[in-house]
Amino acid sequence: MQNNVLILDFGSQYTQLIARRVRELNIYCEIKPYNNPPKDLSSFKAVILSGSPHSVRSEDAPHPDLSEIKGKKPLLGVCYGAQYLAQHFGGEVGQSNTREYGRANLSMVKDGETFMKGVSSNSQVWMSHSDTIKKLPANAVRIASTHDVENAGYRIEGEDTYAIQFHPEVYHSTDGKKILENFLVNIAGIAQTWTPDAFVETTVADLKSKLGDDRVILGLSGGVDSTVAATLLHKAIGKNLHCIFVNNGLLRKNEFTDVLKQYEGMGLNVKGVDASARFLKELEGESDPEGKRKIIGKVFVDVFDDESKLVENAKWLGQGTIYPDVIESVSATGGPSATIKSHHNVGGLPDYMQLKVVEPLKALFKDEVRRVGASMGLSASLLGRHPFPGPGLGIRILGDITPEKVAMLQEVDHIFINGLREAGLYDNVWQAGAMLLPVNSVGVMGDERTYEKCVALRAVESTDGMTADWVNLPYEFLQKVSNDIINKVKGVNRVVYDISSKPPATIEWE
Ligand code: XMP
Repeated sequence: MQNNVLILDFGSQYTQLIARRVRELNIYCEIKPYNNPPKDLSSFKAVILSGSPHSVRSEDAPHPDLSEIKGKKPLLGVCYGAQYLAQHFGGEVGQSNTREYGRANLSMVKDGETFMKGVSSNSQVWMSHSDTIKKLPANAVRIASTHDVENAGYRIEGEDTYAIQFHPEVYHSTDGKKILENFLVNIAGIAQTWTPDAFVETTVADLKSKLGDDRVILGLSGGVDSTVAATLLHKAIGKNLHCIFVNNGLLRKNEFTDVLKQYEGMGLNVKGVDASARFLKELEGESDPEGKRKIIGKVFVDVFDDESKLVENAKWLGQGTIYPDVIESVSATGGPSATIKSHHNVGGLPDYMQLKVVEPLKALFKDEVRRVGASMGLSASLLGRHPFPGPGLGIRILGDITPEKVAMLQEVDHIFINGLREAGLYDNVWQAGAMLLPVNSVGVMGDERTYEKCVALRAVESTDGMTADWVNLPYEFLQKVSNDIINKVKGVNRVVYDISSKPPATIEWE
């Protein structure tokens, strides 16, 4: 990749944010763990050192070898990175008298510095450190201070090496992006050419040359990632992309037919496989959450395998894997053991399938996948869809699954989700759905006593599903949805709203 930036990760919680800010500047970058850096640095035009939970003064702190980088390529140290550069090259780092967390304001910004161009002297920055740089290296020039931190920013004379104690990548550092732009564009001279359109163009060309006339199989889920991946592959190889969209009987109401139609309308070579009966039969009597997940995963692989065999001479399996799934992250303790998250959209395929894997989105963050989708003309409604779990309603029906329960929950879910759309609330919510609880409760309808099911509605805001909070939906909205559900869905006489955050509660109830 041209104009690539290397971010060396020392385990900071903000490392991914640095990458996002850099890419927002239309510059491509990659995160690599400090203890497993790329062997060949020739494609990197600049390097950024991240923050870290470690103190540079501790024995087991990361001590990367920068001999091929410092003084040879534009280099920016952030927080730990700034302290490491100071300590390692002749300065001194010690414990600070006042620990600085959160907001601070720059009290001095040295005039005439390209790095600080456009940054005002009282600009707000975000600090998160307990060590401080007490003495700069001999050839360093101080370029910024805050009230409590004298050496908040410095550069090394005669090199394109810069360092800042604060975090330019977080939203609360008002001019953070400007500083990153000054470094990458004005100092490192990197062109801002990495746009969604450019990504589509180069990816399609790469896919064309990689895949030639080979056939690719891809499992579509109705979600954003698999759809965008399929669209890119379709642009590259057309009808040689064979998409399979499986109905596991646990999709939302009308989802299978609606989404299939949408895919066909997009010109994709897609086969809809209705395997509902097979899934529901295998699930009969199983009430353990993990047991249900396992059955759904296994039946999916079997169905997918059967269908794949019908595609003669398929050589590749396309997947919608995205960047956060493949980033090698430095463990929270900063130890040498890098953990690699793995991801299998199709739940792990049997080895005998012998397909090579092609993952056109594996360099992109979720919001970038959406932007790439938009640049290829995918509809906003498709790109804005809430995430939906692979096991579908199967993990929202607590206890055992029957076709009647699925039908009941589909109706409830449909009223809730449509209600969100009609009230203009859908896009304010990250994910929403309904749970069918395994209890009956007493009610009264007309003159009759009822003893029927209870459903729980859940709507959360989140960025990645790792943490989430419940959404404060208007009472009037909840009142209307509850009324509609109880009046229209036979067998439900009670609706509750889930007001638990994650952690400790998960988003799904199973
Ligand atoms: P939890 O319930 O763990 O969910 O807070 C976090 C996010 O992951 C989704 N989820 C799943 N997705 N297979 C999936 O493909 C699963 O088994 C699964 N379980 C949870 C969930 O919908 C939420 O977005």
